[in-house]
Amino acid sequence: MDSAYASLRQRFEKTFGQSDGRIHIIRAPGRVNLIGEHTDYNDGFVLPMAIEPEVRIACRARGDGMMRIASTAFDGQIVQLSLQQKITRGEPTWSNYMRGVAAEMIAAGIPLVGMDALYDNTLPVGGGLSSSAAIEVGTAHALLALSGETVDATRIALLCQKAEHEYARVPCGIMDQTAVASGRAEHAMLLDCRSLAKQFVPLDPQDLRVVIVNSMVHHELSGGEYAQRRQQCEQGVAYFRKLNPSISALRDVTLQQVWDAEGKLPPVVFKRCRHVVSEITRTTEAAYKLTHQFYEEVGELMIQSHQSLRNDYEVSVPELDFLVEQAITIKGVYGARMTGGGFGGCIVSLVQPRAVDAMIEQLTHAYNEQFGKKPAAYVTTATAGAGVLE
Ligand code: GLA
Repeated sequence: MDSAYASLRQRFEKTFGQSDGRIHIIRAPGRVNLIGEHTDYNDGFVLPMAIEPEVRIACRARGDGMMRIASTAFDGQIVQLSLQQKITRGEPTWSNYMRGVAAEMIAAGIPLVGMDALYDNTLPVGGGLSSSAAIEVGTAHALLALSGETVDATRIALLCQKAEHEYARVPCGIMDQTAVASGRAEHAMLLDCRSLAKQFVPLDPQDLRVVIVNSMVHHELSGGEYAQRRQQCEQGVAYFRKLNPSISALRDVTLQQVWDAEGKLPPVVFKRCRHVVSEITRTTEAAYKLTHQFYEEVGELMIQSHQSLRNDYEVSVPELDFLVEQAITIKGVYGARMTGGGFGGCIVSLVQPRAVDAMIEQLTHAYNEQFGKKPAAYVTTATAGAGVLE
């Protein structure tokens, strides 16, 4: 067993004491989205993959229906709640992810036993790599494993998304929880966010590295910008639906229809629609090109995606723009773009394996010169989705 997991087990016993009960170890990866940004809540396509940085949970069943949770990031804090009473939001804020998942599972009729759980996170919090989805999906796996229940990965993702909406108050789409729950090693996932059908696209580690660079600008999705983008998309849908009642999401709108709406839609709404509709096409195209190993073309689509997110969707920040601009000038980098909700967080880039070290060195230097801080870089392969390790 990995020594990190062994030491988590020891820390668990220090926190919750020793007993005869079996300690399980759960792993839930973060995710990075290669392309398809702000398309999930428009019923579009996304192309994420699960990554190596992860949330690890050591957990053990309790017979009294209590849930006690602790985190290695908050030494000495143990949060306690009863699964037999109505679960409400509460302090500390980080506990709302676990509260939400337990509450939604109970509401869905899944019988749960109590649990002690210690969380350890190697994902940057607020880095846009879905640490919250990893905590949620990991919590669901922990509760299921201890309760002897099984639930399929799509349903787990939906329950966790609901928890995020209601307990973390982030009106997110379905991408993050699905990537974390259903990722496949060495594959990206083309997810149809309307039908939730998944197609897996191989990523050959001989040919490609996925390099993630964190701008260290903390992003916050519970702020109003994300919800505002969703509303602007809905405004767009309302306009197009008047023209054609069968349109229920921007997924159903063509780029020609968007162009025809110029001057009729408020300019901001027009731009938001142009991003979403063009991004959906770029995403399915990128999946096709990736399947056929046309890496230059995938890279080009990523660059276009970034420009569209910056100019039309207006969710980038100068730090992300700078990292992308620098990255794409480096030899061996196929493409780069901001990834996740935006307003900070990370860029993702597709890179030839032999170019990785030089790229990280160059970016770190240039970023430090420009912004006076060091970005964190992660070189990762695509990993499997969440599961019980032991
Ligand atoms: C966040 C949300 C996702 C998705 C992305 C943008 O990560 O949680 O559902 O909307 O932003 O693509």
